[in-house]
Amino acid sequence: MSIYERKILKVAKSLIKKVKEAVEYSYAPYSKIRVGAVLYCKGGKVYTGTNIENSSYSLTICAERVALYKALSEGTTDFSLLLVYSPQYDFITPCGACLQVLSEFAPELVVATMSKNEEFKFLPLRNLLKVPFKI
Ligand code: THU
Repeated sequence: MSIYERKILKVAKSLIKKVKEAVEYSYAPYSKIRVGAVLYCKGGKVYTGTNIENSSYSLTICAERVALYKALSEGTTDFSLLLVYSPQYDFITPCGACLQVLSEFAPELVVATMSKNEEFKFLPLRNLLKVPFKI
């Protein structure tokens, strides 16, 4: 394992408690799929998010965008890692809409996804969305 891989593993491990707490606030009465996200920013600041559904289904917002918008709305733009977790599905990854939004603000982001057993996969955002829409 390289020094870089060791470093991001250490960061991801330090976010486990936060992502599990975030999932507790999930509002998902329709899909029943609970998702948590933690955005780790340079300097160590973190922003959590969880999915919030609505009876008008398309108004649902994903955990990833909640975390991102919380950070952006407080002026934080220097993100390095996003941890995503669902207690129901191992190794979930952000949806296409979230990838597009994340790409606009953090093209260098690494997405970490976690299983129930607290194993990780690290996926560069660039590999998850190779050609984001741009104007
Ligand atoms: N969801 C997320 O929060 N993040 C994802 O990356 C994919 C999907 C949520 C949205 C919805 O509340 C539920 O999971 C099922 O799609």
